[in-house]
Parts: sequence; structure tokens; C-alpha cells
Amino acid sequence: MPIASEAFLQQSGRAMTGTSKVTAKDVNVYYGDKHALKAVSLDIRANEVTALIGPSGCGKSTFLRCLNRMNDLIEGARVTGLITLDGDDIYDYSLDVVQLRARIGMVFQKPNPFPKSIFDNVAYGPRIHGLAQSSADLEEIVVSSLQRAGLYEEVKDRLSEPGTGLSGGQQQRLCIARAIAVSPEVILMDEPCSALDPIATAKVEELIDELRENYTIVIVTHSMQQAARVSQRTAFFHLGELVEFGDTEQIFTNPQQKLTQGYITGRFG
Ligand SMILES: Nc1ncnc2c1ncn2[C@@H]1O[C@H](COP(=O)(O)OP(=O)(O)OP(=O)(O)O)[C@@H](O)[C@H]1O
Ligand SMILES: [Mg+2]
Repeated sequence: MPIASEAFLQQSGRAMTGTSKVTAKDVNVYYGDKHALKAVSLDIRANEVTALIGPSGCGKSTFLRCLNRMNDLIEGARVTGLITLDGDDIYDYSLDVVQLRARIGMVFQKPNPFPKSIFDNVAYGPRIHGLAQSSADLEEIVVSSLQRAGLYEEVKDRLSEPGTGLSGGQQQRLCIARAIAVSPEVILMDEPCSALDPIATAKVEELIDELRENYTIVIVTHSMQQAARVSQRTAFFHLGELVEFGDTEQIFTNPQQKLTQGYITGRFG
């Protein structure tokens, strides 16, 4: 079989491992007068987990939200610089933001299932994006999304029950299933385990590692252990600046910057 060219793979929405999926160049974010993110440039590689770490208020969520234009929804927020997905400017005026958010999905800190059944939570995105041709099709998408989120076995007999009735860890995996259901290419996760107990956290971490095969993942975390366990590359932010970015192992064993060293050894933050 001929090896598909990178251009072809990117065209088909599937970049090769190691290539840049999302690129940020000189990105600044202002909330009114506050300069919250300062000249951040960062390449996010396909089929890798990139961890964003740093003390509270350093701009991790702000940066994450730039990547699928969630900052558009914050009054007074202004973003400058260039962010591309597969080489295309995501802030281009002709771009359909709803479509963009289907390609770059998001999972939040607090599990936030809709007040709907487990089935309807997962079916929601495919329905609004018209992804299923028939009800059998829709069911197939829901089941496979729940399977990929590692939740199906636990909920298969109660798909019509409310999603809000699940445990916290199950709700978070339901939210991941909901994000997966629209076949995103990139999944953004903002502290997805901070409301979960250690067992539920371990499950979600295991899932993140599996998902990387098919998706590109960016995760914000306050846990160094988590960043070390799940990510291939780590970006350390401080006061709105990207201080250091590199292979996770290098960042945690041999950081180049004093600030990074101070943070990962727990001297501040
Ligand atoms: N909607 C907003 N309006 C005004 N300022 C904001 C807004 N959101 C964030 N900020 C400010 O921008 C800076 C970066 O905030 P951000 O939420 O990105 O930090 P963070 O690294 O995610 O912190 P945490 O770890 O506490 O979640 C902070 O100083 C914060 O107060
Ligand atoms: Mg945050």
C-alpha cells in the first residue's frame, strides 16, 4: 500500500503523528485592559497529549479557550495573533465557528451533562450537526462513543435515564462521550479530573491515553503527576507567558528555566 502523503492525510482531517495539528503564533489575549496572555507561540502535535501547567491565573484556560474560539463568548475579550488548524486560520472571518467547535471539542472541569437522558446527551451533537442518516445510525454513534469513552458497559441498561444521575466520574466520561460523538479532531480538556476521586481520575487518565490514538488532546492540569502520566509534551505558563515548552520527560527531569524548576518542585504555585 502506498504511504499516504501528509497533505492527503491533513486533507482527510487526519494529520500524521508528529506533525503540527494546531499552531499558535504570537497570541495575545486581553480582557479589557488586562493583558492576560502574552505573545504565546506553541505547536500542538497530532495524536499527542499536550499538557498546560502553571500557577492559578497564569492563562492556561485563556489559552485553551483561544483554540476553539470560546473567548469569543466572553465580553471584552480580544485575541490577536495567528492560530491555525491544519494550516487554516481559525479566526478567518469566513470560518463557521459552530463547525470549528465540532472539530475542536471541549471537556470542562466540572462534569456538565445536559438535563437529558444518557442517550440524548451523546446524541445531541450528532443531531444538531445532522451526522446520522437514520435512528439506527444515531444509535450506532451513541453506542460507539460511549464505548470509546469507556462508559458503555456501566450504562448500557439505563440509556434512557438522566445523565445527571450518574456518579461524577461517570458524568465526566459521559461528557467525553458527548465530545467524541461529533468526531472531533482535537479535544480540549480544562482540568477534567479536578472534581473526581482518585479511581475515577485513573479511569479518565487511562481513557485520555487511549484517545490519543485517534485524537489530538490538550489538557490543563494542576497535577504534575497527571501531566507526567498522560502527556507527551508539556507547556509551562507563568503570568501570561509561555516560559517553557518541551517533551514532558525533559520538562519534569531537566527543566531549562528556573521558573519551571521552581514550579515543578513545588517551590511556588
Ligand atoms: N472573563 C474574564 N474577565 C477578566 N479577566 C479574566 C477573565 N478570565 C480570566 N481572566 C484573568 O486572566 C488571567 C488568566 O486567567 P485564566 O483563567 O486563563 O488562568 P488559569 O491559568 O486557567 O488559572 P486557574 O488555574 O486558576 O484556572 C487571570 O488574571 C484572570 O483573572
Ligand atoms: Mg483555568
